[in-house]
Amino acid sequence: MSGPDALKKAFVKSYGCQMNAYDAARMADVLGGQGYAATDKVEEADVIVLNTCHIREKAAEKVYSELGRLRVLKTERAARGHDTRIVVAGCVAQAEGGEILSRAPAVDVVVGPQSYHRLPDLLARSHRGRVVDTEFPVEDKFDHLPARRSRGVSAFLTVQEGCDKFCAFCVVPYTRGAEVSRSVAAVVAEAEKLALAGVREVTLIGQNVNAYHGDGADGGTAGLPDLIRAVAAIPGIVRIRYTTSHPNDMGADLIRAHAEVPALMPYLHLPVQSGSDRVLAAMNRKHTGDQYRRLIARVRAARPDVALSSDFIVGFPGESDADFSDTMRLVSEIGFESAYSFKYSPRPGTPAAERADAVPEAVMAERLAALQGLLDAQRHAYQRAAVGRTLDVLVEKAGRRPGQVAGKTPHLLAVQFDAPASRIGEVVPVRIVETGSNSLFGAPVPEAAAA
Ligand code: 5AD
Ligand code: SF4
Repeated sequence: MSGPDALKKAFVKSYGCQMNAYDAARMADVLGGQGYAATDKVEEADVIVLNTCHIREKAAEKVYSELGRLRVLKTERAARGHDTRIVVAGCVAQAEGGEILSRAPAVDVVVGPQSYHRLPDLLARSHRGRVVDTEFPVEDKFDHLPARRSRGVSAFLTVQEGCDKFCAFCVVPYTRGAEVSRSVAAVVAEAEKLALAGVREVTLIGQNVNAYHGDGADGGTAGLPDLIRAVAAIPGIVRIRYTTSHPNDMGADLIRAHAEVPALMPYLHLPVQSGSDRVLAAMNRKHTGDQYRRLIARVRAARPDVALSSDFIVGFPGESDADFSDTMRLVSEIGFESAYSFKYSPRPGTPAAERADAVPEAVMAERLAALQGLLDAQRHAYQRAAVGRTLDVLVEKAGRRPGQVAGKTPHLLAVQFDAPASRIGEVVPVRIVETGSNSLFGAPVPEAAAA
């Protein structure tokens, strides 16, 4: 074949968390290095990668319905003489391994989150037979990934993977394995490259990012606050965020960094999961509701304008009406800018999945609706409170309408305003004039007036 048709194309779709989004982008880089151009049209892809999520049953089941559709597509493309390789990556791949091959006949490669740097080799081998690679290899995948093709103003950067906490409901310690941190030098080198490519905001990500303990510059071990300070020193990086955290790893030095490092944004995603001490104990969270409250008070003392975010699970086995009321009370007392809330979903292999005292689906649905109602009201109140204020917006991209740009405030509120695209990458003071459903709308303030 000749002409543009000869160009090989790869379609990569990611489900679930930001770690997966990062991995998906890196898989696109790996395939790019092999001559595959990225496409968002699945029907023209020679390689299709589904980067899967196993955290809740619904997320995992989505993959199988998608694979059913892809099987048809693969057959149609084969009839036209095109080969299609289908890759299942991510946490469903890790958890189910070879089982995926029997449930989904169209799949050629199953690759876990620690092995995707080997994708070219696995794809080559798949022509001789279907391949499964879900090892936790001894080599570090980050050392084997090609240079990052950076995009945009704001970038995720994986600094830590895995989790040793073993919350009773969670598959992460099984799918992502034990906690591993990259070295400060490796993270700083990646962040420097991002900065040179125009990135202004870096979000340090990890399943338990505040448990970060990487090799430091002086031969010792560095914690997340040390890493934050090192990244803050990189010219061009004006904003730093980190996610996601565990309350028990929220040390005094990290709290102090919120007071002392201007680039560290006043936003904290700190999942509490429940407000009931009984449920928290059953979840193996190893903290109480009051310990969480005291922690938040300390963070607020260090950074009074910090915006808070959390994850919640309703209907954990054995959760009573009184337990759920404790969650509602904690939410009312603390006040969150944003939050994710889920119905409990039993995951095979986790301790909670063995429990016989499941909460009925209807009760879970009722509790979720009540909790989301409260969280939505808090989110809207937070957005309304921004109206009339002048906030620094890091401009990330063109806005929805021509002549508009879009960006985020320090508190991660999305803002649209009229300005030329040449301002992308700048921090612009914007006076907020009204709230929309998902964004705020504002007008740029001349520098002199903003000062
Ligand atoms: N059921 C429901 N929600 C879950 N989460 C993790 N495991 C489960 C589960 N089995 C939620 C937690 C976690 C977020 C990433 O997903 O709230 O913080
Ligand atoms: Fe899962 Fe708990 Fe680890 Fe978070 S801290 S990844 S919820 S086991």
